[in-house]
Amino acid sequence: MPGFELFGDAERKQVQQVLETGVLMRYGFDAARKNVWKCKELESIMCDRFGTKFCQLTTSGTTALNTALAVAGIGAGDEVIVPTFTFVATFESVINLGATPIIVDIDESLTMDPEAVRKAISPRTKAIVPVHMCGCPANIEELVKIAKEHNLLLIEDACQSTGATYKGKSVGSFGDMGCFSFDYVKIITMGEGGCVVTDNQDFYTKADGYTDHGHDHKGNDRGKEPHPFLGINYRVNELNAAVGIAQFGRLDDILAINRRNKKYLKDRIAAEVPEIRFRTNYSSEGENATFLSFFLPTLEQAREAAAGLAAGNVGGVFHYYDNNWHYIRKWDHLKNRVSLNKLSKQLLDGMPDYSKISFPVSDDIIGRNLSCQICLTWSEEELHRRGDVMVKVLKQVCNK
Ligand SMILES: Cc1ncc(COP(=O)(O)O)c(C=O)c1O
Repeated sequence: MPGFELFGDAERKQVQQVLETGVLMRYGFDAARKNVWKCKELESIMCDRFGTKFCQLTTSGTTALNTALAVAGIGAGDEVIVPTFTFVATFESVINLGATPIIVDIDESLTMDPEAVRKAISPRTKAIVPVHMCGCPANIEELVKIAKEHNLLLIEDACQSTGATYKGKSVGSFGDMGCFSFDYVKIITMGEGGCVVTDNQDFYTKADGYTDHGHDHKGNDRGKEPHPFLGINYRVNELNAAVGIAQFGRLDDILAINRRNKKYLKDRIAAEVPEIRFRTNYSSEGENATFLSFFLPTLEQAREAAAGLAAGNVGGVFHYYDNNWHYIRKWDHLKNRVSLNKLSKQLLDGMPDYSKISFPVSDDIIGRNLSCQICLTWSEEELHRRGDVMVKVLKQVCNK
């Protein structure tokens, strides 16, 4: 799955070019950098790949989400709709800006259910943040329609879905802005990094300034540049961008390996264990195939299968129901409102009491789901061994 599995000379060569100039910062030092601008180069590569006019690098997927929400003007008193199944960063970034996350059910695609979104819209709703989870596009056409009907912003969390497309168009390019992550365990990595992509010139100009303390980047002298608004430091350095350039060069190869490995395992399970159902996939050709996600008939069987696969040395199997990063059931810090900084009364009063709200639809879906990481460096033998163990364990569990 992750780009770090394929790391070598291309990355070293890119990093070396930066080390030779000694200029690690993305801005300024024009003479010393000898025309090496890795961050700018990577942003241009991303625009081509994601099919958007603009791209702003950020230090992570989390800060990409923060940036997108901030430049959209989202803050105190605003509601942002997010799904029950995502990574904690999605709602953290909403709270970080003082806005209120409104959490809604997923469907069997493991992504936001458009009907649940419709029901959650209130006069305070400002944005919908669908998450293209585990490498598969959300029901994006439907969500775009809802956003347009209600005049809401659509900010895509595509952090897990670099390389995925829906009807041939990259995820992240459907909404007002799209956010990506290139942390160490993503399909391609910069060590840490992320970006916001958009076709909107105003959002881009603001993101460019916001991520660098509000600098307007119009002059050549950073010391004298005006700061038209408050910002923060989410600047990426040239070394991380250099790694990203090399990794982007590998993306098509990575996608091909993932898709082949996933197809092998999926075809075997589909042929040999008919009780297993696979996640709904709105874009089976376009997913980045970092995960194979499927459903056991019951929660107990999913738990048993997860244990059986671990015992059979099939690693990288997630039963998200029992995991505290990705599914609301164990987001105790959110439920108990434990924050180091003081949260505003407006936020606390406006936020539903998630310690008292249950999500039976999502519980049922996530309870029955297992998601298996697909790796790039499996040998043929390892792939076949995993297929054998998966079929054996799943058959045993389903036929009890
Ligand atoms: C869905 C989702 N959103 C946001 C993030 C945050 O990305 P980062 O780790 O780069 O901050 C992640 C990271 O795992 C993610 O999976």
